[in-house]
Amino acid sequence: MFTLYRMEVVKDKETGKPMEFEKVVEVRRSIRMFQSRKIENEKIYKLIEMARLCQSAKNRQPWKFMILENEAKNQVADIMLDLFNKNDYELPGYINSSKTSAKIIKNAITLILVYREKDDNWLIGDLLSIGAAIEHICLEAVNLGLGAVWIRDTVYTEEEIGKQKGYPDLQLVSAIAIGYPDESPEPRARKPMEEILIKENTLKDLCNDSKL
Ligand SMILES: Cc1cc2nc3c(=O)[nH]c(=O)nc-3n(C[C@H](O)[C@H](O)[C@H](O)COP(=O)(O)O)c2cc1C
Repeated sequence: MFTLYRMEVVKDKETGKPMEFEKVVEVRRSIRMFQSRKIENEKIYKLIEMARLCQSAKNRQPWKFMILENEAKNQVADIMLDLFNKNDYELPGYINSSKTSAKIIKNAITLILVYREKDDNWLIGDLLSIGAAIEHICLEAVNLGLGAVWIRDTVYTEEEIGKQKGYPDLQLVSAIAIGYPDESPEPRARKPMEEILIKENTLKDLCNDSKL
């Protein structure tokens, strides 16, 4: 499907050296506005290749990826928007973000649908593995000079999208909207280290805490 050839490594604008892993992690942002420029096939291939190399629980590799462009991509957005047009009752507020996500999908150049091979005995392990594979794609997008946003708002219409795209037996887990970035968002706030590092609850700590 895609021609495979050696990719040019994206150089860091400041140093001129190949972008390093930590830098890729630091500069990654969710990108929601895209240029109209098409993504080269070999870059799409490389994104999926990075997902293919991802680790997975029991090495099950429970993922499937579908690449959509143009009308096939916009159909997904339309299904998400239909949710609002068809319902004459008030939908819970949090679902509203799926309207915004649908518009992002329309604006994106390429959409990757990420599916799970259904096997409920492995649900959590498989979902964790798929999350890791999606992050590989999002980081590789940065490495290739692209921008991406991980979209879970497909959850409200996952069955409709699954039927429309012809794989009702797979579960649609997420989508990734990709293109050349047309925005440079500021970093979103992160919790400080002190808030995310927790101490082991040993007997010693308990004694200290209660001043025994
Ligand atoms: C599991 C997951 C689901 C997400 N779903 C959506 C989504 O449906 N729509 C959207 O616009 N952004 C979505 N995002 C992007 C987050 O809003 C974003 O990662 C977060 O606000 C931090 O911003 P940053 O990615 O720029 O650091 C999702 C991110 C993750 C990890």
